[in-house]
Amino acid sequence: MNYPLYFDHNATTPCDPKVLEAMVPWFTTHFGNASSSSHPYGWMAEEAVESARESVAHLIGAKAKEVIFTSGATEAINLALKGLLSQADPIKNEIITLQTEHRAVLDTCKALDQTGVKVTYLPVEKNGLLKLDQLEAAIGPQTLIVAIMYANNETGVIQPISSIARLAKEKGVFFLSDGVQAAGKIPVSVHDSGIDLMPLSAHKMYGPKGVGVLFVNQKTIGSKLHPQIVGGGQERGLRSGTLNVPGIVGFGQAAVLAAQSMSEESKRLKSLRDKFEIALLELPGVSRNGTDAHRLPHVTNLAFEGVQGTDFLKHLNAKIAVSSGSACSSISEKPSHVLKVMGLHDALALASVRFAMGRFTEDDHVDQALAHVKAVLKKLRDSGN
Ligand SMILES: Cc1ncc(COP(=O)(O)O)c(C=O)c1O
Repeated sequence: MNYPLYFDHNATTPCDPKVLEAMVPWFTTHFGNASSSSHPYGWMAEEAVESARESVAHLIGAKAKEVIFTSGATEAINLALKGLLSQADPIKNEIITLQTEHRAVLDTCKALDQTGVKVTYLPVEKNGLLKLDQLEAAIGPQTLIVAIMYANNETGVIQPISSIARLAKEKGVFFLSDGVQAAGKIPVSVHDSGIDLMPLSAHKMYGPKGVGVLFVNQKTIGSKLHPQIVGGGQERGLRSGTLNVPGIVGFGQAAVLAAQSMSEESKRLKSLRDKFEIALLELPGVSRNGTDAHRLPHVTNLAFEGVQGTDFLKHLNAKIAVSSGSACSSISEKPSHVLKVMGLHDALALASVRFAMGRFTEDDHVDQALAHVKAVLKKLRDSGN
């Protein structure tokens, strides 16, 4: 099979060979259980986990003890929102979030909503950014948490995180920011920004799938979280279950590599992305979804007028792996909820494509992708499709 060029790095990234190399011994010779405290197999595994914890903490400006390992960001989000609400004062039972969040947040909120929690879903402007005064007006005495993502997985739009955190602090509410797409791509400092809780995922930063983290601000959250998975008491009792040592080691190595290469890599990717985007925006009926000023360097989301979305995507995918929205909804053929909130009508949302480049994308790949997009667009527009 001839695999298409991969331009879908917001859905997942390949495991970096250096990450895989670091993981292998922890499956074979160093297979110990990190909780086995009576022999060297366990001690070594525990040491490796603690070293990975340091590395992930370093990447986001946190302390090692503020990092809780989970099976992924979805679990971390569930732990954060459900865990905080189940121990809070019953009067404080409102979450404020954005309509453009990832489904991991939206569906957790929906589940909580069904248990009597009030959830307020704020819209965003056409450019994908939230309106701070709208958020300020929405926060009331009932509000416990504001859950607003750092950077959007579909458009790459980065929200004004420090201003949101300041507002949350002033109003005495907790601030959870989904950092899955931002961490490892742009500098993130949870303490400098004033974030209380941040879920992360290894597979979005060249680490393995099935490993995530919840950053828990020690000062502001402390012991206010109630565990959602109980058992052996691992991860300070917040997330029981035998630790995925190879996965955690991989996450640690991925964090080290991301920290080392971030400044160079983000410049390189921005230049590839800009070249790609500028060439397509020159064509009639092509526009960008989301602000230019505040977004991730490696992603562009473009709307193509005059083509039928599913057909366009099918033709594109013959040579380049892309999607029209998040991986979770790409099978549904429904227009992206994010783009709809940003004011796109259904047909244009369906004819919008997210192109996300990554560590192994080269200049030549961009040229090939450009030629393919242009050819498909011409063919479909000429045939009146
Ligand atoms: C913004 C965002 N949040 C959460 C998730 C869920 O992460 P995980 O796959 O680790 O559960 C994703 C992954 O698609 C994401 O893009």
